[in-house]
Amino acid sequence: MRVVLVGAPGAGKGTQAKHIASHYEIPPISTGDIFRANIAEQTALGKTAKRFMDAGDLVPDEVTIGIVRDRLAQDDTASGFLLDGFPRTLAQAEALGEIVADLGTPLDVVLELQVEDDEVVRRLSGRRTCRNCGHVWHVEFDPPSVAGVCDECGGELFQRDDDLPETIRRRLEVYSEQTAPLVGYYAERGLLRSTTAIGSVDEITKRSVEALELATQV
Ligand code: AP5
Ligand code: MG
Repeated sequence: MRVVLVGAPGAGKGTQAKHIASHYEIPPISTGDIFRANIAEQTALGKTAKRFMDAGDLVPDEVTIGIVRDRLAQDDTASGFLLDGFPRTLAQAEALGEIVADLGTPLDVVLELQVEDDEVVRRLSGRRTCRNCGHVWHVEFDPPSVAGVCDECGGELFQRDDDLPETIRRRLEVYSEQTAPLVGYYAERGLLRSTTAIGSVDEITKRSVEALELATQV
C-alpha cells in the first residue's frame, strides 16, 4: 500500500498516519516530523527549516523534495509507505511522481481528510506533544490524566511553536493557496479519495481503511 495523506494543518494526518500505517505495517513518513527531528538535533537542515516553519510558511521545494527522495529509497519502504504532509505543492507532487516512477512503485491512493477551519483551529490550539516519546495529546479532545504529563512515558508535554494563533492562520492560508490545488491534481489522475475527518479517531481510521480498501480493490 503506497498512500499519501492530504489535508489541512490539524486535520489529524499525524494521528491517522500512525493507525493506518500500523494497520498495513508500512512506515509513516512525515516531512514535518523529519524537520522537527532536525531542529531538535540542531542540524543545518533544522536551522533552515525552522525559519520557515515558525513563520507558518513552507520549507522550499528543493530542500523538501531531496529529503523525501532519500527517505523513499530506504529498504523499509519496499512493502509500501504512507506519506503525511508531502507533497504540499504542485512542484512536489510532480517530483513525487518522478521519484515513484524511478523506483517502480506507483502511488495507490491519495486520501484527503476533510475538516472545517474552525475545527482545525480548535485542534491545533489544544495540541500538546510529548518531548520524550512524541505522542500527541489534546487538552480537550484527548487529555492526559495529569495535565502536562504524557500518560505513555511520563515525559513533559509542550506546545509546538507553530501552533500559536497567528501562525495557525498563516498555515491555513498557505494550505488553501499552495496545497489544496493538489486535491484537483490527484482527482484528475484518478487517485483521490476523500473522507470526512470529524468523529472519533477510531471512526476516522475505520473510514480511512475502508476508503483505501475500496480504492485498491482489483
Ligand atoms: P506538519 O508537521 O506536516 O504540520 P501540518 O500539516 O501543519 O499538520 P499538523 O501536524 O499541524 O496537523 P495534523 O494534520 O498532523 O494533525 P494531528 O494529527 O497532529 O508541518 C509543519 C511545518 O513543516 C509546515 O508548516 C511547513 O513549514 C513544514 N513542512 C512540512 N512538510 C512540508 C512540505 N512537504 N513542504 C514544505 N514544508 C513542509 O492532530 C491535531 C490535534 O488534533 C492533536 O492534538 C490531536 O490529538 C487532535 N485530534 C486528532 N484527531 C482528532 C479527532 N478525530 N477529534 C478531535 N481531535 C483530534
Ligand atoms: Mg502532523
